Amino acid sequence: MRQNENIVSLKNISVAFDGETVLDDINLDIRNKEFITLLGPSGCGKTTTLRIIAGFVEPDKGDVLFDDNKINGVPAHKRQVNTIFQRYALFPHLNVYENVAFGLRVKKTPEKELDLKVREMLKLVNLTGLEKRKIDTLSGGQQQRVAIARAIANNPKVLLLDEPLAALDLKLRKDMQTELKKIQQQLGITFIFVTHDQEEALSMSDRVVVMDNGKIQQVGTPKDIYNEPKNAFVADFIGESNILDGVMIDDRLAEFSGKKFECLDSGFEKNEPVDVVVRPEDVDIVPLSKGMLEGVVTSITFLGVHYEIIVDIGGFKWMIQTTDEQFVGDKVGLYIEPDAIHIMKKSEYSGKYGDYSSYSEEIDHLSDVEEDEN
Ligand SMILES: Nc1ncnc2c1ncn2[C@@H]1O[C@H](COP(=O)(O)OP(=O)(O)OP(=O)(O)O)[C@@H](O)[C@H]1O
Ligand SMILES: [Mg+2]
Repeated sequence: MRQNENIVSLKNISVAFDGETVLDDINLDIRNKEFITLLGPSGCGKTTTLRIIAGFVEPDKGDVLFDDNKINGVPAHKRQVNTIFQRYALFPHLNVYENVAFGLRVKKTPEKELDLKVREMLKLVNLTGLEKRKIDTLSGGQQQRVAIARAIANNPKVLLLDEPLAALDLKLRKDMQTELKKIQQQLGITFIFVTHDQEEALSMSDRVVVMDNGKIQQVGTPKDIYNEPKNAFVADFIGESNILDGVMIDDRLAEFSGKKFECLDSGFEKNEPVDVVVRPEDVDIVPLSKGMLEGVVTSITFLGVHYEIIVDIGGFKWMIQTTDEQFVGDKVGLYIEPDAIHIMKKSEYSGKYGDYSSYSEEIDHLSDVEEDEN
């Protein structure tokens, strides 16, 4: 099978539990050897999607294809798929070696072949020398590696990883992200990874599937998802976004905040209402006389690399990242280049996200609480 052919396809998959729709008409083609990530808030259906591919849940509607063959009803152990669960589910009574050997023993692999394979896997995950250690004497990161070695010892064509790094502290998590990516490239197998951490998804994946409410909102490369979000949900969930009500006056001309702006988008109806996204890092603070918009700085947070400031423009609060120091109460001008503007169709998510008023109120509220306590 070649690199870009589909290894797993989900066709019109729907699932309900106790009458509640959990997956709603999911269509997704997963390419051979890609690192694809399901990303979305808690409860959006990520684990259920994995369980359908693994064969632990049967969909109410739709088909699951593997190598273009329908596999609905094929039991989990007969699918060429392995899962790493969030809780690694290692066998506590077996040592490291036997945990990795487990699947091979079930398959009655000859001893010599088994030994070679287990040692190769342990080397791959950097655990050579720890063969005899008991699971409860290992660190979280080491247990994670045993789980990976065990899952890939059976040569699955597809590995499903359900938030495998969630239990690790930040530093270890970063290291394991790099290592997992390396392992995936060395093995040349397909990884279907689940996380609700957008930074993890963007940094590791060839493609990201953004889900909400049992539906796929967008599928694309990390750059596509960040630069060209399809709707206000995606724009808000991935990174920070100012999302404004606007109108597409004409191709490459949008109106928002009471002003007209050149942009790069086209193909909308004349005067079509739209959602406009401007990322906080794409706004330039300029002297008032040079600003396309004017506003008042209402809060400032120093974050080391830059300041994150909130600017009130006619009652709408923008978040802006800048390396220049500003002061609360300053009047500032804002300059926005055409390529900093991204236009989206209106959707069920319009108006729900993208104004930072509640953000600064939260900060005000926190400082009120602190003052009350003092
Ligand atoms: N066996 C089940 N019976 C009833 N409801 C279920 C079952 N499994 C999942 N659900 C419900 O389906 C919805 C989606 O669950 P799922 O585990 O797929 O979410 P998730 O995206 O993996 O969330 P998280 O990030 O919290 O792990 C949730 O509302 C959950 O409560
Ligand atoms: Mg889950």
